[in-house]
Amino acid sequence: MFDLNKIIQPHLADLKSYSSARNEFSGDAKIWLDANESPFANGVNRYPDPLQMELRDLVASQRNVDPKQIFIGNGSDEAIDLLIRCFCRPGKDSILICPPTYGMYSVSANINNILIIKVPLRADFKIDVDSILNAVNRNSPKIIFLCSPNNPTGSSIDTNDIIEMCENFSGLVVMDEAYIDYSNRESATHLLSQLPNLVVLQTLSKAYGMAGLRIGFAFANTQITALLNRVKPPYNINILSQQKALDLLSNLAQIKDQIEQVKQLREDLMAELSVLNAVQRVFPSDANFLLIAFQNADLVYRYLLERGIVARNRSGEISNCLRITIGTPAEQTTLIKVLQKLESQIKKT
Ligand SMILES: Cc1ncc(COP(=O)(O)O)c(C=O)c1O
Repeated sequence: MFDLNKIIQPHLADLKSYSSARNEFSGDAKIWLDANESPFANGVNRYPDPLQMELRDLVASQRNVDPKQIFIGNGSDEAIDLLIRCFCRPGKDSILICPPTYGMYSVSANINNILIIKVPLRADFKIDVDSILNAVNRNSPKIIFLCSPNNPTGSSIDTNDIIEMCENFSGLVVMDEAYIDYSNRESATHLLSQLPNLVVLQTLSKAYGMAGLRIGFAFANTQITALLNRVKPPYNINILSQQKALDLLSNLAQIKDQIEQVKQLREDLMAELSVLNAVQRVFPSDANFLLIAFQNADLVYRYLLERGIVARNRSGEISNCLRITIGTPAEQTTLIKVLQKLESQIKKT
């Protein structure tokens, strides 16, 4: 059974975190002389709320979790790094990933001198549960990072697989749901009460349209979120980001409408790409991007670039594949026109 004390880095078990002025007193006061701030008001002269209570309350109500089950990071990238730092001993412990997947799990592991066990996705881009559990038995990683919908494949993980993984593993299962809002599947947050070793990552950077604010979430049991909040830098979410997120999140209807638009544009782009001869395959996607196999992805990548269109060349990991983000209708029309032109040039030669 899951026991946080068995997997936490031993030196963090009794960590006394920095107690900031804003930790020690919160509430209404007439005069603030506790934090060595400038007294001249300009909107940012005061430190932000270190535990982002207002934002956490709003996110909790919108995502149906308890505020105490939320850690807010400087992007979900901060949560990935902190999870590794909290649970993995440098030079000794490992994480498990299922490539091709989001690159920061490996980058954070490498920065922290943590070994990486790789269990590749199957050819259909599904996770290979049996191979993962075999690797877990052989190598005892501390964290399994899963990504659903996965970047860059756009494929999703079945709920039963998540449950099986969590129930047969004494470490943490991190489900990165950066793109979940573009999917018709339910978030794994509804499993949190039943699976104490599950951590669900989400972000405001994608469907919520706030990549510039750098706000990401780890939803987990309160022991884990409390630990992350003890280890994080005291003021990791700045005051402008907190205010702007509260402001934008109050208009949920507009965000939901934009998500629906992107989902429709994804279907449109898929249909338009599928009929091009240069395209070998457009993979199904639950995210706001498409993974596309071309006859010659490097050539297409360069051709687009020369015409001012930047795609992501993933050929290094998946042969002849580009990952293309869903854009505005006008951007997609331009993209298709450029690809049609490339095709007509290829035909002539
Ligand atoms: C799967 C996945 N997780 C996390 C992130 C990082 O998100 P954030 O902007 O919240 O750090 C990304 C960014 O591309 C991503 O693709």
